[in-house]
Amino acid sequence: MNYEIAKKLLKEYNQEHLLQFYDELSEINKQKLLNQIEQIDFSLLTELEKQKNSKRGTFKPVDAVTLGEIEKNKREYVSLGINAIKSQKVGAVLLAGGQGTRLGFSHPKGMYNIGVNRNLYIFECLFNNLKDIVFLTKAYVPLFIMTSESNDKETRTFLKAHDYFGYNPDYVHFFIQEMAPVIDENSKILLSEKDKIAMSPNGNGGWFSSMQRAGLLDKIQEMGILWLNVFAVDNVLQRIADPCFIGATILSGCSAGGKVVAKAAPDERVGVLCLENDRPSIVEYYEMTEEMRTRREPDGRLSYNYGVILNYLFRVDTLIQTLKETMPLHMAHKIVPYIDENGNCVTPSEPNAYKFETLVLDMIRLQENCLSFEVDREREFAPVKNATGTDSVDTARELLEKNGVSL
Ligand code: UTP
Repeated sequence: MNYEIAKKLLKEYNQEHLLQFYDELSEINKQKLLNQIEQIDFSLLTELEKQKNSKRGTFKPVDAVTLGEIEKNKREYVSLGINAIKSQKVGAVLLAGGQGTRLGFSHPKGMYNIGVNRNLYIFECLFNNLKDIVFLTKAYVPLFIMTSESNDKETRTFLKAHDYFGYNPDYVHFFIQEMAPVIDENSKILLSEKDKIAMSPNGNGGWFSSMQRAGLLDKIQEMGILWLNVFAVDNVLQRIADPCFIGATILSGCSAGGKVVAKAAPDERVGVLCLENDRPSIVEYYEMTEEMRTRREPDGRLSYNYGVILNYLFRVDTLIQTLKETMPLHMAHKIVPYIDENGNCVTPSEPNAYKFETLVLDMIRLQENCLSFEVDREREFAPVKNATGTDSVDTARELLEKNGVSL
C-alpha cells in the first residue's frame, strides 16, 4: 500500500490522524506503518455502528443438571466420558490470548506464580489438573493453546523451559488469535508509537476461526476429535476434559455443554445461562433487569441461578456450521498507553480506550441446545482476575488450599 491509497482509505473511515507523524518517519518506518494500515480490518468500525441498534430477544430461565442429579448418574456419565477421551474424541482448548490487564502482571497470565512457599505457576495448576485425567484414562488429551501476537513467544518459551509441566509435548499445539485496533472515546484509532497503531487481541470469541486459519481444523478432523472443551487460563481449579461433564453432555444429545455454578447472590456479576427466543444464550449481569436478577422459583432458588465459568464443551461439527456467522462485537473499556496529538506518550491511570472483542459466550447462541451442568464452585471455580479483592490471587490461593493444593 502506498501513502496516497492509505490516506484515501483512512479518510473514508475518518482516521486520517494515523498519518499525522508520517513525514517524521524514516523510509523503513513509513513502510511499516503503511503495511500495518493495510492489514487492519476497518470494517469493524462500521460493524459496530450497525450493531448498536441490535436488540436482545426474550429471555427465559433454563434448568441445569444439578449437583444432586449428577451425583445419581455419575457412574454412567464418567464411564461414557472416559471412553470418549480414551478413543481420542475429545480435545481441549486453552484460551490464553488475553492481556490480563486487571491483574497488572506484565507477562502472560499463565506465568503468574501463585505459590507462596514454592513456585506454582497458573499454567502449572492447569497442567496438573489435566494430568489427573491422563492418570484416570491412561490417555493424553490433545491440548490446543491459543495465544496472541503479544504473548505467543513468551508463552511457548516458558512452557518449553518447564517441560510442559510433565505433559507430553506431542499433544500440545499452539495457535495465534487475531488482533484488532484500539479506539479512544471518540472512535479514533490510537497510535502506540508514531509509526505503530495500538492493537490488542480481538477477544476470546474467535478461537475456532483462528484454529481454522492456523490449519488446525484439518488436524482435528484427521485426529477424529468430535468434541472440544474450551476453558479460560485464569481459573486455577479448572477441571479440564472432565469425564463426568463430557459423558453428561454426550448423553443429553445437546451440541454443547456449559459448566455453571449456582449464583452466590442475586447481584453477583456473572453471565447466566438461559434461553433467548427459546435458544440457549448467556445474559450478562448488566443486561439483566431487577426482576430477572431477583425472581425466584417456588422452591426459593433464583430463576436465573446458574452463572457460567468459561468452561464449555462444543461439538466440532456444529462449530464448523457456525464459522460463517458474524459474532457480535463487544467493547472492553481498558487502560491503553498512546501517543497524543503532540507526539507525547501518555499512560493514563483510568480506562481511556475501547478494545473490540468477540466473546466465546456468544457462541452458545449459535447452538441448537446447550446442557447447563452444575459444578461446585468451591471445588472448580477460583478465577484470578485481580491482584487483590474479589476473584483475586488471594481468593484463588485460599481455594487452592481448601482443595488440598500446597502453596
Ligand atoms: P478476560 O475476559 O478475563 O480477559 O479473559 P483478560 O484479557 O485475560 O483480562 P483483563 O480483562 O484484561 O483483566 C477470559 C479468558 O479469555 C482469554 C483470557 O486469556 C482468559 O483465559 N482471552 C481473552 C483470550 O484468549 N483472548 C482475548 O482476546 C481475550
